[in-house]
Amino acid sequence: MGRQIFDSRGFPTLECLLEMEDGFVVQSSVPAGASVGHYEALELRDGDKKVFNGTGVLKAIYTLETIIAPALCQKAPDLIAMDELLIELDGTPNKAYLGANTTLAASIAVARAQAYVQGLYDYALLAELFQQKPTLPRCMVNILNGGMHADNGLVFQEFMIMPSQQVGMNETMSIIFDVYQTLKHLLHDAGHITNVGDEGGFAPQLVPKGLKKQYAALDFLVQAIERAGFTVEDVSICLDAAANYFYDAKTKRYVIEGDFLTSADLVSFYEELIKRYPIFSIEDGMSEDDWEGWQLLTEKLGDKIHLIGDDIFVTSTEKLMRGVEEGVANGVLIKPNQRGTISEAYAALALGSNAEYLTIASHRSGETNDPFIADFAVGCAAGYLKVGACVRGERVAKYNRLLAIEKTL
Ligand code: PGA
Ligand code: ZN
Repeated sequence: MGRQIFDSRGFPTLECLLEMEDGFVVQSSVPAGASVGHYEALELRDGDKKVFNGTGVLKAIYTLETIIAPALCQKAPDLIAMDELLIELDGTPNKAYLGANTTLAASIAVARAQAYVQGLYDYALLAELFQQKPTLPRCMVNILNGGMHADNGLVFQEFMIMPSQQVGMNETMSIIFDVYQTLKHLLHDAGHITNVGDEGGFAPQLVPKGLKKQYAALDFLVQAIERAGFTVEDVSICLDAAANYFYDAKTKRYVIEGDFLTSADLVSFYEELIKRYPIFSIEDGMSEDDWEGWQLLTEKLGDKIHLIGDDIFVTSTEKLMRGVEEGVANGVLIKPNQRGTISEAYAALALGSNAEYLTIASHRSGETNDPFIADFAVGCAAGYLKVGACVRGERVAKYNRLLAIEKTL
């Protein structure tokens, strides 16, 4: 059965309920992005502008109940076989028929049903199916928001911090807490508002314009790390530039508040950034269509930092394969809803690991309280995980799930 619920931005999303033979009900719900790559699998939304501005999911519910349920129900849950069936039922390369939101809700529900039958935690089932050793990922925690996740004119979308050493979840939370709360005080004392953006990071209106604004943001991050009692060796910075947002495809320029940059200029800017700041990784440093820019970026910086592809790869094995062949990036973001089934997301992750790319499982900016992505990251042995800041219920649900999982490992 499907239900229309609401995500953390207040938009409708899909919840799936699956009743087991003994009456137990497993549930799943799916997230949605704001900075959505053009090549992501498609969501099925109602499109009637008079209701929820077209974003309702009643068609997805109807699809779930009349097409997917009859094909999957009354059978022993089997994630891999059922994901294949979903792909077959859909029959398009981008879930244009059933919708990736519909298929992913079903895929997660099937995984939970199978885990229930086998008496396993969700992550343990995935680890068994994909023959992985369950592993706690390292968390990249988004503490300053910009881009499409905040209304503050900061073009880079995510400024994240990460403990530089592999530490347990309690210590991770403790470090993140200290830096986050220190940043709040620093911003407040500097006269900035401390309201938060979509992923729970602060969203201050920083004064300098253009490229300089990114420096101002990074200066605050470094100050927060140091004032919290750490060094830049203890805590690293990870960025998601989400460059689609400021790329003008017509002129092939990256436009940052009056600065017009070629791909090469932008690479030079990143070179400057990594000289000045302890940057571990830059995600989507170039736009999804700028493969040449991506190649240049990888050639120049690939041996210095991690370059993560999100919109350029959209969790697609085909696109990732092209990236590996053409020397694009050395890390890949894995978002299950960019493809629409757990198996396809795992396939992209496995391809990334085999190519020695950094693998980062990721939530979306519009989330529900479903913590599945935490189980996915652990069970599929993703090296890293992005689930936003350590505030807001829908983000904290994932950290709390990791804390619980850690106790069972
Ligand atoms: P999104 O942002 O969920 O809005 O796409 C997350 C990201 O770009 O990594
Ligand atoms: Zn991204």
